[in-house]
Amino acid sequence: MALETGGDRRVVAATDTATDTIVAPRRPVVAGGFPARRLRRLRRNEGLRRLVRETTLQPDDFIYPLFVSEAITEPAPITSMPGQAQWPLGTLAHQARQIAALGIGGVILFGIPAVKDELGSGAYAADGVVQRAIREIKDAAPDLVVVTDVCLCEYTSHGHCGLVRGGVVQNDETLELLAREAVSHAAAGADVVAPSDMMDGRVAALREALDASGYADLPILAYSAKFASAFYGPFREAAESAPQFGDRRGYQMDPANGREALREVELDVLEGADMVMVKPALPYLDVLARVRDRWNLPLAAYNVSGEYAMLKAAAANGWLDERRATLELLGGIKRAGADVIITYHAIEAARWLGEP
Ligand code: PBG
Repeated sequence: MALETGGDRRVVAATDTATDTIVAPRRPVVAGGFPARRLRRLRRNEGLRRLVRETTLQPDDFIYPLFVSEAITEPAPITSMPGQAQWPLGTLAHQARQIAALGIGGVILFGIPAVKDELGSGAYAADGVVQRAIREIKDAAPDLVVVTDVCLCEYTSHGHCGLVRGGVVQNDETLELLAREAVSHAAAGADVVAPSDMMDGRVAALREALDASGYADLPILAYSAKFASAFYGPFREAAESAPQFGDRRGYQMDPANGREALREVELDVLEGADMVMVKPALPYLDVLARVRDRWNLPLAAYNVSGEYAMLKAAAANGWLDERRATLELLGGIKRAGADVIITYHAIEAARWLGEP
Protein backbone atom coordinates (compact mmCIF):
# COMPACT_ATOMS: atom_id res chain seq x y z
CA MET A 1 0.00 0.00 0.00
CA ALA A 2 1.27 3.46 -0.90
CA LEU A 3 0.06 6.64 0.69
CA GLU A 4 0.59 10.10 -0.82
CA THR A 5 -0.46 13.47 0.45
CA GLY A 6 -0.78 16.51 -1.84
CA GLY A 7 -2.30 19.80 -0.67
CA ASP A 8 -5.46 19.08 1.13
CA ARG A 9 -6.05 15.92 -0.87
CA ARG A 10 -4.97 12.56 0.27
CA VAL A 11 -4.51 9.85 -2.25
CA VAL A 12 -4.75 6.38 -0.91
CA ALA A 13 -3.37 3.83 -3.28
CA ALA A 14 -4.37 0.31 -3.08
CA THR A 15 -6.43 -1.68 -0.90
CA ASP A 16 -6.72 -4.84 -2.93
CA THR A 17 -4.11 -4.23 -5.64
CA ALA A 18 -1.05 -2.04 -5.76
CA THR A 19 -2.19 -0.26 -8.93
CA ASP A 20 -5.63 0.67 -7.68
CA THR A 21 -5.61 4.39 -6.87
CA ILE A 22 -8.47 5.96 -5.04
CA VAL A 23 -9.05 9.66 -4.66
CA ALA A 24 -10.16 9.77 -1.11
CA PRO A 25 -12.68 12.10 0.40
CA ARG A 26 -11.55 14.78 2.85
CA ARG A 27 -12.38 12.75 5.80
CA PRO A 28 -9.72 10.25 6.82
CA VAL A 29 -9.99 6.82 5.37
CA VAL A 30 -9.08 3.57 6.93
CA ALA A 31 -7.68 1.67 3.97
CA GLY A 32 -9.78 -1.36 3.25
CA GLY A 33 -12.76 -0.11 5.19
CA PHE A 34 -15.85 1.96 4.60
CA PRO A 35 -16.49 3.99 2.47
CA ALA A 36 -13.93 2.55 0.06
CA ARG A 37 -15.33 -0.86 0.70
CA ARG A 38 -19.04 -1.34 0.18
CA LEU A 39 -19.98 -5.02 0.01
CA ARG A 40 -23.45 -4.06 -1.20
CA ARG A 41 -21.98 -3.15 -4.63
CA LEU A 42 -21.93 -6.80 -5.61
CA ARG A 43 -25.45 -7.38 -4.33
CA ARG A 44 -27.09 -4.74 -6.54
CA ASN A 45 -28.77 -7.03 -9.00
CA GLU A 46 -29.31 -10.71 -9.67
CA GLY A 47 -26.68 -10.80 -12.43
CA LEU A 48 -23.97 -9.64 -10.05
CA ARG A 49 -25.19 -11.87 -7.27
CA ARG A 50 -25.07 -14.90 -9.54
CA LEU A 51 -21.61 -13.99 -10.78
CA VAL A 52 -20.10 -14.00 -7.30
CA ARG A 53 -22.17 -16.83 -5.80
CA GLU A 54 -19.86 -19.22 -3.97
CA THR A 55 -22.14 -22.24 -3.64
CA THR A 56 -24.72 -23.53 -6.08
CA LEU A 57 -26.95 -26.57 -5.90
CA GLN A 58 -27.56 -28.96 -8.76
CA PRO A 59 -29.81 -32.02 -8.97
CA ASP A 60 -26.76 -34.26 -9.29
CA ASP A 61 -25.71 -33.26 -5.78
CA PHE A 62 -28.65 -35.21 -4.42
CA ILE A 63 -29.31 -38.82 -3.51
CA TYR A 64 -32.96 -39.70 -3.03
CA PRO A 65 -33.92 -42.34 -0.42
CA LEU A 66 -36.46 -44.96 -1.47
CA PHE A 67 -38.27 -47.30 0.92
CA VAL A 68 -39.20 -50.58 -0.69
CA SER A 69 -41.54 -52.94 1.11
CA GLU A 70 -42.16 -56.59 0.42
CA ALA A 71 -45.25 -56.50 2.66
CA ILE A 72 -47.48 -54.21 0.56
CA THR A 73 -49.05 -54.18 -2.88
CA GLU A 74 -50.01 -50.48 -3.04
CA PRO A 75 -47.82 -47.46 -2.17
CA ALA A 76 -48.19 -46.68 1.55
CA PRO A 77 -47.75 -42.99 2.43
CA ILE A 78 -45.56 -42.28 5.46
CA THR A 79 -47.55 -39.93 7.69
CA SER A 80 -44.60 -38.34 9.46
CA MET A 81 -42.89 -37.65 6.11
CA PRO A 82 -45.46 -35.92 3.89
CA GLY A 83 -44.82 -36.69 0.22
CA GLN A 84 -42.84 -39.87 0.97
CA ALA A 85 -44.10 -43.44 0.79
CA GLN A 86 -43.15 -47.06 1.06
CA TRP A 87 -43.18 -48.56 -2.44
CA PRO A 88 -44.04 -52.10 -3.38
CA LEU A 89 -41.87 -54.05 -5.78
CA GLY A 90 -43.20 -53.52 -9.29
CA THR A 91 -43.53 -49.73 -8.93
CA LEU A 92 -39.83 -48.89 -8.97
CA ALA A 93 -39.24 -48.74 -12.69
CA HIS A 94 -41.52 -45.71 -12.92
CA GLN A 95 -39.86 -44.09 -9.91
CA ALA A 96 -36.39 -44.73 -11.26
CA ARG A 97 -37.12 -43.23 -14.68
CA GLN A 98 -38.65 -40.13 -13.14
CA ILE A 99 -35.69 -39.64 -10.79
CA ALA A 100 -33.17 -40.17 -13.59
CA ALA A 101 -35.04 -37.73 -15.86
CA LEU A 102 -34.70 -35.01 -13.22
CA GLY A 103 -30.93 -35.44 -13.25
CA ILE A 104 -30.78 -36.54 -9.62
CA GLY A 105 -27.42 -38.06 -8.70
CA GLY A 106 -28.71 -41.37 -7.39
CA VAL A 107 -31.00 -43.26 -5.06
CA ILE A 108 -30.34 -45.02 -1.77
CA LEU A 109 -32.47 -48.07 -1.04
CA PHE A 110 -33.96 -49.23 2.25
CA GLY A 111 -35.83 -52.51 2.37
CA ILE A 112 -38.70 -53.70 4.54
CA PRO A 113 -38.91 -57.50 4.38
CA ALA A 114 -42.13 -59.53 4.68
CA VAL A 115 -40.70 -61.36 7.68
CA LYS A 116 -38.09 -60.39 10.24
CA ASP A 117 -35.98 -62.74 12.35
CA GLU A 118 -33.25 -62.70 14.98
CA LEU A 119 -30.47 -62.84 12.40
CA GLY A 120 -31.92 -60.39 9.91
CA SER A 121 -31.64 -63.01 7.20
CA GLY A 122 -33.77 -61.00 4.76
CA ALA A 123 -30.87 -58.56 4.55
CA TYR A 124 -28.59 -60.98 2.74
CA ALA A 125 -31.10 -63.20 0.91
CA ALA A 126 -30.35 -63.42 -2.81
CA ASP A 127 -34.02 -62.69 -3.55
CA GLY A 128 -34.46 -60.22 -0.66
CA VAL A 129 -36.48 -57.05 -1.13
CA VAL A 130 -33.51 -54.76 -1.80
CA GLN A 131 -31.82 -57.27 -4.09
CA ARG A 132 -35.01 -57.44 -6.18
CA ALA A 133 -35.44 -53.67 -6.06
CA ILE A 134 -31.92 -53.13 -7.40
CA ARG A 135 -32.63 -55.35 -10.40
CA GLU A 136 -35.91 -53.59 -11.09
CA ILE A 137 -34.30 -50.15 -11.00
CA LYS A 138 -31.26 -51.17 -13.03
CA ASP A 139 -33.49 -52.65 -15.74
CA ALA A 140 -35.49 -49.43 -16.01
CA ALA A 141 -32.73 -46.83 -15.60
CA PRO A 142 -29.32 -48.46 -16.02
CA ASP A 143 -27.41 -45.19 -15.55
CA LEU A 144 -29.09 -44.15 -12.32
CA VAL A 145 -26.61 -44.67 -9.47
CA VAL A 146 -28.02 -47.16 -6.96
CA VAL A 147 -26.62 -46.97 -3.44
CA THR A 148 -27.76 -49.52 -0.86
CA ASP A 149 -27.97 -49.04 2.87
CA VAL A 150 -26.13 -51.92 4.50
CA CYS A 151 -27.61 -52.56 7.94
CA LEU A 152 -29.65 -55.16 9.77
CA CYS A 153 -32.17 -53.04 11.71
CA GLU A 154 -34.97 -53.27 9.14
CA TYR A 155 -34.57 -57.06 9.01
CA THR A 156 -34.13 -58.07 12.64
CA SER A 157 -37.08 -58.89 14.89
CA HIS A 158 -35.48 -56.86 17.71
CA GLY A 159 -34.80 -53.85 15.45
CA HIS A 160 -31.12 -53.49 16.32
CA CYS A 161 -28.42 -52.97 13.71
CA GLY A 162 -26.53 -56.13 14.60
CA LEU A 163 -26.69 -59.56 16.15
CA VAL A 164 -27.96 -59.48 19.73
CA ARG A 165 -26.77 -61.82 22.47
CA GLY A 166 -27.66 -61.29 26.11
CA GLY A 167 -29.21 -57.96 25.28
CA VAL A 168 -25.96 -56.67 23.75
CA VAL A 169 -25.30 -55.96 20.07
CA GLN A 170 -22.32 -58.11 19.14
CA ASN A 171 -19.74 -56.30 17.07
CA ASP A 172 -17.52 -58.92 15.49
CA GLU A 173 -20.22 -61.47 14.75
CA THR A 174 -22.29 -58.76 13.06
CA LEU A 175 -19.45 -57.98 10.64
CA GLU A 176 -19.85 -61.29 8.89
CA LEU A 177 -23.58 -60.71 8.30
CA LEU A 178 -22.98 -57.18 7.02
CA ALA A 179 -20.34 -58.47 4.64
CA ARG A 180 -22.79 -61.05 3.28
CA GLU A 181 -25.39 -58.32 2.86
CA ALA A 182 -22.99 -56.06 0.95
CA VAL A 183 -21.87 -58.88 -1.35
CA SER A 184 -25.49 -59.80 -2.10
CA HIS A 185 -26.25 -56.16 -2.98
CA ALA A 186 -23.21 -56.13 -5.25
CA ALA A 187 -24.33 -59.36 -6.91
CA ALA A 188 -27.75 -57.80 -7.57
CA GLY A 189 -26.11 -54.84 -9.32
CA ALA A 190 -25.69 -52.07 -6.72
CA ASP A 191 -23.26 -49.30 -7.68
CA VAL A 192 -22.26 -48.32 -4.13
CA VAL A 193 -22.74 -49.97 -0.73
CA ALA A 194 -23.24 -47.79 2.32
CA PRO A 195 -22.83 -49.39 5.77
CA SER A 196 -24.90 -47.53 8.38
CA ASP A 197 -24.68 -49.92 11.32
CA MET A 198 -21.77 -48.27 13.19
CA MET A 199 -20.02 -51.52 14.11
CA ASP A 200 -16.26 -51.13 14.49
CA GLY A 201 -14.33 -52.59 11.58
CA ARG A 202 -17.26 -52.87 9.17
CA VAL A 203 -15.60 -50.97 6.34
CA ALA A 204 -12.58 -53.31 6.40
CA ALA A 205 -14.88 -56.33 6.63
CA LEU A 206 -16.94 -55.17 3.65
CA ARG A 207 -13.86 -54.31 1.60
CA GLU A 208 -12.32 -57.69 2.20
CA ALA A 209 -15.51 -59.60 1.39
CA LEU A 210 -16.22 -57.54 -1.74
CA ASP A 211 -12.67 -57.98 -3.02
CA ALA A 212 -12.76 -61.72 -2.36
CA SER A 213 -16.06 -62.03 -4.24
CA GLY A 214 -14.97 -60.26 -7.40
CA TYR A 215 -16.22 -56.76 -6.51
CA ALA A 216 -12.92 -54.99 -6.00
CA ASP A 217 -14.25 -52.08 -8.06
CA LEU A 218 -17.36 -51.47 -5.97
CA PRO A 219 -17.07 -48.30 -3.87
CA ILE A 220 -18.01 -48.03 -0.19
CA LEU A 221 -19.77 -44.94 1.14
CA ALA A 222 -19.31 -45.18 4.90
CA TYR A 223 -21.80 -43.63 7.29
CA SER A 224 -18.70 -42.66 9.28
CA ALA A 225 -19.95 -40.08 11.75
CA LYS A 226 -23.44 -41.29 12.47
CA PHE A 227 -24.86 -39.85 15.64
CA ALA A 228 -27.50 -41.36 17.95
CA SER A 229 -30.07 -38.78 16.92
CA ALA A 230 -33.66 -37.95 17.79
CA PHE A 231 -34.02 -36.82 14.18
CA TYR A 232 -34.29 -40.42 12.92
CA GLY A 233 -37.78 -40.71 14.43
CA PRO A 234 -39.85 -40.53 11.21
CA PHE A 235 -37.45 -42.89 9.41
CA ARG A 236 -38.13 -45.59 11.95
CA GLU A 237 -41.81 -45.39 11.07
CA ALA A 238 -40.91 -45.47 7.38
CA ALA A 239 -38.49 -48.37 7.65
CA GLU A 240 -40.27 -50.13 10.52
CA SER A 241 -36.90 -50.36 12.24
CA ALA A 242 -37.35 -48.97 15.75
CA PRO A 243 -35.41 -51.00 18.34
CA GLN A 244 -37.73 -53.20 20.41
CA PHE A 245 -35.63 -52.69 23.54
CA GLY A 246 -33.04 -50.10 24.58
CA ASP A 247 -31.65 -47.64 22.06
CA ARG A 248 -28.71 -47.28 19.68
CA ARG A 249 -26.37 -45.30 21.94
CA GLY A 250 -24.10 -48.31 22.44
CA TYR A 251 -23.02 -48.11 18.80
CA GLN A 252 -24.08 -44.77 17.27
CA MET A 253 -22.12 -41.69 18.30
CA ASP A 254 -22.79 -39.35 21.20
CA PRO A 255 -24.15 -36.09 19.69
CA ALA A 256 -21.77 -34.12 21.90
CA ASN A 257 -18.59 -35.44 20.25
CA GLY A 258 -16.94 -33.61 17.35
CA ARG A 259 -13.36 -34.82 17.77
CA GLU A 260 -14.51 -38.42 18.01
CA ALA A 261 -16.29 -37.94 14.68
CA LEU A 262 -12.90 -37.15 13.13
CA ARG A 263 -11.52 -40.39 14.59
CA GLU A 264 -14.43 -42.33 13.09
CA VAL A 265 -13.73 -40.78 9.69
CA GLU A 266 -10.01 -41.48 9.99
CA LEU A 267 -10.59 -45.15 10.79
CA ASP A 268 -13.04 -45.58 7.91
CA VAL A 269 -10.57 -43.96 5.51
CA LEU A 270 -7.82 -46.27 6.75
CA GLU A 271 -10.12 -49.26 6.30
CA GLY A 272 -10.75 -48.31 2.69
CA ALA A 273 -13.85 -46.12 2.53
CA ASP A 274 -14.16 -44.35 -0.83
CA MET A 275 -16.58 -41.73 0.48
CA VAL A 276 -17.53 -40.77 4.00
CA MET A 277 -20.69 -39.35 5.51
CA VAL A 278 -21.84 -37.19 8.37
CA LYS A 279 -25.37 -37.84 9.63
CA PRO A 280 -27.66 -36.04 10.47
CA ALA A 281 -26.73 -32.84 8.64
CA LEU A 282 -28.14 -29.72 10.29
CA PRO A 283 -27.12 -30.19 13.93
CA TYR A 284 -23.66 -31.33 12.71
CA LEU A 285 -22.59 -28.72 10.14
CA ASP A 286 -19.50 -28.03 12.25
CA VAL A 287 -18.53 -31.69 11.97
CA LEU A 288 -19.05 -31.56 8.20
CA ALA A 289 -16.81 -28.51 7.92
CA ARG A 290 -14.09 -30.09 10.02
CA VAL A 291 -14.15 -33.32 8.02
CA ARG A 292 -14.02 -31.26 4.82
CA ASP A 293 -10.94 -29.38 6.08
CA ARG A 294 -9.07 -32.54 6.96
CA TRP A 295 -9.92 -34.99 4.19
CA ASN A 296 -10.00 -34.81 0.44
CA LEU A 297 -12.26 -37.72 -0.33
CA PRO A 298 -15.88 -37.11 -1.37
CA LEU A 299 -18.05 -36.18 1.56
CA ALA A 300 -21.76 -36.88 1.93
CA ALA A 301 -24.27 -35.46 4.39
CA TYR A 302 -27.56 -37.14 5.27
CA ASN A 303 -30.36 -34.60 5.65
CA VAL A 304 -32.42 -37.03 7.71
CA SER A 305 -36.10 -37.76 8.13
CA GLY A 306 -36.65 -35.51 11.18
CA GLU A 307 -35.04 -32.57 9.41
CA TYR A 308 -37.40 -33.13 6.48
CA ALA A 309 -40.41 -33.55 8.78
CA MET A 310 -39.68 -30.26 10.62
CA LEU A 311 -39.61 -28.31 7.39
CA LYS A 312 -42.73 -29.98 6.02
CA ALA A 313 -44.63 -29.32 9.24
CA ALA A 314 -43.69 -25.65 9.30
CA ALA A 315 -44.54 -25.25 5.62
CA ALA A 316 -47.89 -26.99 6.06
CA ASN A 317 -48.74 -24.47 8.77
CA GLY A 318 -47.77 -21.59 6.50
CA TRP A 319 -44.92 -20.65 8.83
CA LEU A 320 -42.14 -20.96 6.25
CA ASP A 321 -41.81 -20.50 2.51
CA GLU A 322 -41.01 -24.12 1.76
CA ARG A 323 -39.14 -23.64 -1.48
CA ARG A 324 -36.87 -20.89 -0.18
CA ALA A 325 -36.31 -22.56 3.18
CA THR A 326 -35.46 -25.91 1.60
CA LEU A 327 -33.01 -24.52 -0.92
CA GLU A 328 -31.38 -22.38 1.78
CA LEU A 329 -31.03 -25.40 4.02
CA LEU A 330 -29.61 -27.65 1.29
CA GLY A 331 -27.28 -24.85 0.19
CA GLY A 332 -26.05 -24.51 3.76
CA ILE A 333 -25.20 -28.21 3.89
CA LYS A 334 -23.24 -27.86 0.68
CA ARG A 335 -21.49 -24.68 1.86
CA ALA A 336 -20.44 -26.49 5.05
CA GLY A 337 -18.57 -28.95 2.85
CA ALA A 338 -20.84 -31.69 1.53
CA ASP A 339 -20.31 -32.87 -2.05
CA VAL A 340 -23.35 -35.13 -1.90
CA ILE A 341 -26.59 -34.60 0.01
CA ILE A 342 -28.92 -37.47 0.78
CA THR A 343 -32.31 -35.79 1.03
CA TYR A 344 -36.02 -36.61 0.89
CA HIS A 345 -36.36 -33.21 -0.79
CA ALA A 346 -34.34 -34.36 -3.82
CA ILE A 347 -37.26 -34.56 -6.25
CA GLU A 348 -38.86 -31.27 -5.23
CA ALA A 349 -35.52 -29.49 -5.05
CA ALA A 350 -34.50 -30.76 -8.48
CA ARG A 351 -37.77 -29.39 -9.90
CA TRP A 352 -37.34 -26.04 -8.17
CA LEU A 353 -33.77 -25.73 -9.44
CA GLY A 354 -35.03 -26.33 -12.96
CA GLU A 355 -37.56 -23.49 -12.75
CA PRO A 356 -36.58 -19.99 -13.82
C1 PBG B 1 -30.43 -47.67 9.44
C2 PBG B 1 -30.58 -46.23 9.13
C3 PBG B 1 -31.24 -45.22 9.84
C4 PBG B 1 -31.24 -44.09 9.02
C5 PBG B 1 -30.54 -44.43 7.87
N1 PBG B 1 -30.11 -45.74 7.96
C6 PBG B 1 -31.98 -45.25 11.12
C7 PBG B 1 -31.31 -45.49 12.38
O1 PBG B 1 -30.09 -45.57 12.50
O2 PBG B 1 -32.07 -45.67 13.34
C8 PBG B 1 -31.89 -42.79 9.33
C9 PBG B 1 -32.30 -41.98 8.16
C10 PBG B 1 -33.27 -40.89 8.43
O3 PBG B 1 -33.67 -40.61 9.58
O4 PBG B 1 -33.68 -40.27 7.46
N2 PBG B 1 -29.48 -48.02 10.30
